[in-house]
Amino acid sequence: MQIKKVGVLGCGLMGAGIAQVSAQAGFTTVVKEVEQQFLDKGMARIEGILGKDVAKGKLSADDRDAAMSRLRGTTSFADLADCDLIIEAIVENMDAKREVFSALDALCPEHTIFASNTSSLTIVEMAAVTKRPDRFAGLHFFNPVPVMKLVEIVRAITTSDATVATLREFSAAVGKTAIEARDTTGFIVNRLLVPYLLDAVRVLESGVATRDDIDEGMKLGCGHPMGPLALLDFVGIDTTYFIANIMFDEFREPRFAPPPLLRRMMLAGHLGRKSGRGFYEYSA
Ligand code: CAA
Ligand code: NAD
Repeated sequence: MQIKKVGVLGCGLMGAGIAQVSAQAGFTTVVKEVEQQFLDKGMARIEGILGKDVAKGKLSADDRDAAMSRLRGTTSFADLADCDLIIEAIVENMDAKREVFSALDALCPEHTIFASNTSSLTIVEMAAVTKRPDRFAGLHFFNPVPVMKLVEIVRAITTSDATVATLREFSAAVGKTAIEARDTTGFIVNRLLVPYLLDAVRVLESGVATRDDIDEGMKLGCGHPMGPLALLDFVGIDTTYFIANIMFDEFREPRFAPPPLLRRMMLAGHLGRKSGRGFYEYSA
């Protein structure tokens, strides 16, 4: 199946990145938010990143303008009705995701493929609220989307080979290398990454070392581009907290349980870079 028009749900950290790479790859792209203020923020982020790429000489002003002309923001579901592919990147919550997919299922034509960018939720649980479980899969991008080269294609027990093939073509078109995982919480990368991030919080909580030494340790000792606490701020404390709970519910292993400090930071609104404060402070 040929994808021409792409819908993206959510214009936060991930949705904005996905919408950007889709429009840059030549797809007509519509990104939907719940409120105009969130849409304005996400669209401004995309314009800012493309603007920096033009300033650095990585992108021509014409290509930037062409990408922006293919990208439209909306707060209305109706504008997604004629999309060939819809990628959901809203909050990591099953009820919220099932609600949007149920609404879209009633709106979109039969051929439209639905994909979720979920980090940890079960794909078939979302597919089950639609009449297209064969045209439903996970398409898991990495943060920051314009930079990270990977996408995980998650095959639910209902996903058809044709859907996986179309998503492989789309992933290549947006410049990503696709790997495939079965529909098991955390897929490949988060299954390995999330326990490591949670352990870094436990190391801090138990007083083994300071924030800076933990991050420095993993950067200089293991060659990671960011230390785990900086990466937690980058991903989002709230998002990581939701992911950890989902993974703990699935596997019932203590290593997936969110450490108390993570919950307290979330309750305090210290959500990381997006709120200006997490393990570190960020100026506007
Ligand atoms: N959006 C777009 N581009 C960005 C960006 C962003 N948010 N942040 C950085 N970049 C670009 C910069 O413009 C720069 O581009 P040039 O090389 O063309 O100048 C390039 O990335 C490098 O950036 P910086 O020089 O500013 O900083 P850096 O070298 O430290 O790189 C980084 C920044 C790419 C984020 C790097 O630190 C990194 O790779 N960190 C680890 C990220 C990671 O692990 N992501 C996975 C998170 S887990 C996940 O996504 C799954 C999940 O479900 C939670
Ligand atoms: P975010 O909080 O930055 O953005 C979520 C956005 O979705 C918000 O702007 C919110 O207003 C919007 N939204 C909520 N309900 C909506 C609805 N019904 N319709 C349209 N928009 C709606 O979160 P994020 O970090 O972009 O995460 C989004 C998804 O991507 C989650 O499932 C998360 O697990 C996954 N993910 C996150 C990362 C990461 O590093 N943050 C990486 C990979 C995958």
